[in-house]
Amino acid sequence: MVVTIDNVLTPEELAAVCGQLRKASWSEGISAGPQARLAKRNQQLAEDSPLLPELRKIVLRALNRSSLLITAALPYKILPPNFNRYTQAKSHYGPHTDSSLRPLPDGSYLRTDVSATLFLSQPEAYDGGELSIEDTYGCHRIKLPAGSLVVYPSGSIHEVTPVIRGERLGCYMFMQSLVKDTEHRRHLYDMDMALIALREKYGDGDPHLIRLTGLYNNLVRRWSEC
Ligand code: NI
Repeated sequence: MVVTIDNVLTPEELAAVCGQLRKASWSEGISAGPQARLAKRNQQLAEDSPLLPELRKIVLRALNRSSLLITAALPYKILPPNFNRYTQAKSHYGPHTDSSLRPLPDGSYLRTDVSATLFLSQPEAYDGGELSIEDTYGCHRIKLPAGSLVVYPSGSIHEVTPVIRGERLGCYMFMQSLVKDTEHRRHLYDMDMALIALREKYGDGDPHLIRLTGLYNNLVRRWSEC
């Protein structure tokens, strides 16, 4: 399931993040596992970059505001986001799946269920650089306005196509979902989106909606682990 979420960052937040990234020094991509490392040709902010704490704070605050992100991903833990850059010289990230486990700062592990990319460059600032994601329903090629987010299953094969002009800045992150199974998450997402639309039409007090909302919550209870 691939879900895009518009305007996760406000224009002010986007300007603040991009202003910081213009001052950044970039290092070769290092976050990938063995399979992904072979495919990885981009640059990222080093883990010890002095810019990272403030940048992460802005992005995490924005993610916390997004009710659609909760509906789509049901996040339990989010690995601190990181930032990357693709230019013509360091231009793509070939087909891969994301490593299944990532170490957390406290020494425990996060199981990557959901991956997310926050686009930080406007689409007209670069050519190429699409995020291509294989899904049950075919291949999605994603290139979003700056400040918008896409979430997709970490186990899907995906790639960033070569950037042939300009610069593509992005922020990427991994989440452990309360609901491990991708199909279960898809059912809950479809149901929650329908419930949101029905509540707008009929109001919160409709007795059938109360029953369906209870069913949604009971499925979350059945399928979630935390
Ligand atoms: Ni990836």
